[in-house]
Amino acid sequence: MCGIIGIVGDKPVSDRLVEGLRRLEYRGYDSAGIATATPAITRRRAEGKLDNLVSVLADRPLTGIIGIGHTRWATHGAPTESNAHPHATEQVAVVHNGIIENFRELREELAAKGHQFESETDSEVIAHLVTAGMAEGLSPQQAASAAIGQLHGAFALGILFAGQDNLLIGARRGSPLVVGYGDGEMYLSSDAMAVGPLSNRICYLAEGDWVELTRDSAIIHDETGAVVEREIRSSTVAAESIDKGNFPHFMLKEIYEQPTVIGDTLNTYFNALSGGAFMPEMPFDMAQVPKVTIVACGTAAYAGFVAKYWFEQIARLGVETDIASEFRYREAAMPDGGVAIFISQSGETADTLAALRYAKSQGQYIVSIVNVPESSIARESDVVLPTHAGPEIGVASTKAFTCQLTVLACLVLTFARARGAIDDATVDRLCSSLAHVPELSRDVLQHDDRILSIAKDMTEARDVLYLGRGSLFPLAMEGALKLKEISYIHAEGYAAGEMKHGPIALVDDGVPIIVLAPSGRLFEKTVSNMHEVIARKGQVFLMSDEQGLKDAGPVPHSIALPAVDDFIAPILYAVPVQLLAYHLSVLKGTDIDQPRNLAKSVTVE
Ligand code: F6R
Repeated sequence: MCGIIGIVGDKPVSDRLVEGLRRLEYRGYDSAGIATATPAITRRRAEGKLDNLVSVLADRPLTGIIGIGHTRWATHGAPTESNAHPHATEQVAVVHNGIIENFRELREELAAKGHQFESETDSEVIAHLVTAGMAEGLSPQQAASAAIGQLHGAFALGILFAGQDNLLIGARRGSPLVVGYGDGEMYLSSDAMAVGPLSNRICYLAEGDWVELTRDSAIIHDETGAVVEREIRSSTVAAESIDKGNFPHFMLKEIYEQPTVIGDTLNTYFNALSGGAFMPEMPFDMAQVPKVTIVACGTAAYAGFVAKYWFEQIARLGVETDIASEFRYREAAMPDGGVAIFISQSGETADTLAALRYAKSQGQYIVSIVNVPESSIARESDVVLPTHAGPEIGVASTKAFTCQLTVLACLVLTFARARGAIDDATVDRLCSSLAHVPELSRDVLQHDDRILSIAKDMTEARDVLYLGRGSLFPLAMEGALKLKEISYIHAEGYAAGEMKHGPIALVDDGVPIIVLAPSGRLFEKTVSNMHEVIARKGQVFLMSDEQGLKDAGPVPHSIALPAVDDFIAPILYAVPVQLLAYHLSVLKGTDIDQPRNLAKSVTVE
């Protein structure tokens, strides 16, 4: 949430700051801005997407060999140019990711001393605090350190000083910040991907650290002010490309990457020749685990909700699931030696991280499933199970979700075997179905044209319902989330059996209802619920397989997907619901990769 880039260099930085922001735009796109010290602080800022800033810079270029940049997801203050970062006084410019909780008190104190504020943001107070410290005779470093000490809340900061072309200060508390080491240049960024083209030698600042960057050095201080060494590592994400290839949108590219990345993920945790699923060594005995808790946000939470069905049915292990924003405050009782699983594409989601810390305080073993192995969530876990989805740029999560399900499926099978919960024949059946997921997901993609034609029938819909049972119920919720976030059509996912307890009142001939019903254990029950809807003129679109369509009786619209085992159905049915949301959004002309009001990495509560 909000992206930060900083360069202290020996050649012009403006273009490279913008290039860095382009790689960070997924973190927010309400406004963007850059500042350099030339030696005066000079800024260019623009409301809206980064391209608006690029146009401003084309008219009024910015010189300078040191600078900071920011792409914003608004928290305090509307997404206007005056609220865009960098915020600055004559002496100091600041970019900030996070929330300063005590900004009102600080602002009042500073205003009483004569400081004038030009924005509604919490962030501007930081520039004034540092300026006030320097006015009292502190050095830039001392003033920055003193200011950081007065801030409450979560932040990552980049601070630039007028007249100083060889000093950039960064700080982190609660929000990630990376230092990149170049040749005669140093970089600061919210993530390794943004400094990728500049450097692959990076260092993740630890919680509470602040850093003085010059062209040739990075002096890192911990929260006590002591100078500390932090590991410099080579970044794997840094070199990865983030272009769309031949696809019109990142989202479509990422949907089509699924057969490959599910295969890559499966190869890490599954070997059909040597007994199926396996896991790295765990610090607990799977057979003795009293309870599993799974916590995440949004799409990642739906992956966890699917896994609850799997854990309970296949491993016969009790699972509690929750969304992180609720879990973190409800003070759940957790048994000693329990396992808590946190799922996150970014590995930086603030609520998920806070929930993880709570579970740790309750004596749980922490397992995380993340797509960024060096993320904060990964670094605070006892066991990290990376997904191998590659960078996911589209704001709507697609391939990360199916890769999370793939890891969870392998984890469940490993637990089930360790607990003696399934017989050999069942193990063989489940393993064999899992092994086919990459190829089956490729088959599902072949139905893209049919899904497009279904989407064409739904363009006028104001509301859409998704129905599923069992492990397809979370998929119904995921389908609805995908649709609302990128098409802005209101959608809800319901357990099919719950319809007649209320939601069926919504049904009329203007409400498309997507029914996810692979033939299998719960097929007949789901189909009965579907017919209750059809009887009330509901416009049903049934997603099933050939056999299911034959058995379902007459249905207004349908799509025949490959026949699959119940176990893997949630992974495969994710693909058509993603494609449906995608096509409907293209038809509606929305901004698919960067839907309004959203950002990819949610580092505030
Ligand atoms: C929806 C979506 C979000 C994320 C959620 C958690 O398409 O992408 O709901 O799943 O914000 O993000 P991560 O997985 O990064 O913790």
